[in-house]
Amino acid sequence: MSSAKDILGKLEEKAVKKRRTIILPESDDIRVIDAVHIILRRRIANVILLQKQNELENRFKARKDLTIIDTGFGVQYANDILRIRRSKDPSYSVAAAESESVEPLVFSMMLLKKGFADGVIAGSVCTTSDVIRQAISIVGIEKGYKTVSSFFLFSFPRDHKLSGRVFAFADAGVIPVPTAEQLSDIAIHTAKNFKKLTGLKPRVAFLSFSTKGSARHDSLKKISDALELTKKRNRSLIVDGELQFDAAFVPSVAARKNKGGAIKGDANVFIFPDLNSANIAYKITERIGGAYATGPILQGLSRPVMDLSRGCSTDDIVNMAKVITNF
Ligand SMILES: CC(C)(COP(=O)(O)OP(=O)(O)OC[C@H]1O[C@@H](n2cnc3c(N)ncnc32)[C@H](O)[C@@H]1OP(=O)(O)O)[C@@H](O)C(=O)NCCC(=O)NCCS
Repeated sequence: MSSAKDILGKLEEKAVKKRRTIILPESDDIRVIDAVHIILRRRIANVILLQKQNELENRFKARKDLTIIDTGFGVQYANDILRIRRSKDPSYSVAAAESESVEPLVFSMMLLKKGFADGVIAGSVCTTSDVIRQAISIVGIEKGYKTVSSFFLFSFPRDHKLSGRVFAFADAGVIPVPTAEQLSDIAIHTAKNFKKLTGLKPRVAFLSFSTKGSARHDSLKKISDALELTKKRNRSLIVDGELQFDAAFVPSVAARKNKGGAIKGDANVFIFPDLNSANIAYKITERIGGAYATGPILQGLSRPVMDLSRGCSTDDIVNMAKVITNF
């Protein structure tokens, strides 16, 4: 089995071949600047940076795979922004649209929407909510989709006991309390994108504090509804629930708690019941479990936008560049 480090390595190889163009609007953040030097040196992507006052000119040598644009040029999109905002709020003013258009995050979304780049990576400075709101309102939701959600991809160092394994956790970044329908969307989208990025067959577990009725509580109905809906909507998907984490992950526990289940302790895509549980679990997996976490990888948008944690490292940004160019 290929190692998780290899997964990021493979994504990098593919990225180099594709040579897509990405925008990093938080261009004056030192982690972003360091990451851009690495992305360009390793030819992972062409990069567009946005600057306010020529502050980037002396940080980068002129090169043809790097474009630096002054944010003032964003004002050309003020009318588009006015139209988008007025569709929700008819009293939105021209002045507000002009001042928003030169905001790097908004400008980057407009450049993406207009086709000047293949993706935006933001969130080292802006909050996740800001990134997602601007992405939904400006870039828009993918045709045929209703739900924007996210997942984290986990891989492990060479000396880790899980080295060679790759997992996805969803939704650890977007929807605080998903409905059964949204939970089903999250499962189906994550399975599809897990396969797209890793090449592995997804095996999906809806997680809970209960395994197949071992406990009773009103909150469990949403999970069983999501499971039934998912089975109906995607008959070929390997999916099971509701499962405690050990029943989903440990074959010997699965043999006792979930005999005959579709997941036999071999799940690789874990769907959490809400954002609290998923976000807590991802940070524990990273900080205590020693996993490499890449995400939140946003899904359901019409063009790729990737969010970062504000606590992200330079490596996290480089890894996100490998993901977005393969998304
Ligand atoms: C994503 C988030 C910003 C949306 O906030 P919200 O208050 O529900 O969204 P708004 O009311 O501003 O919605 C704006 C529009 O986006 C839509 N929308 C919001 N979330 C959506 C989603 N997940 N999928 C699709 N559409 C969505 C709304 O339906 C609304 O559409 P409308 O204008 O046509 O009615 C919010 O859920 C959030 O902050 N999530 C947590 C993010 C976070 O802090 N994560 C931390 C961990 S990394």
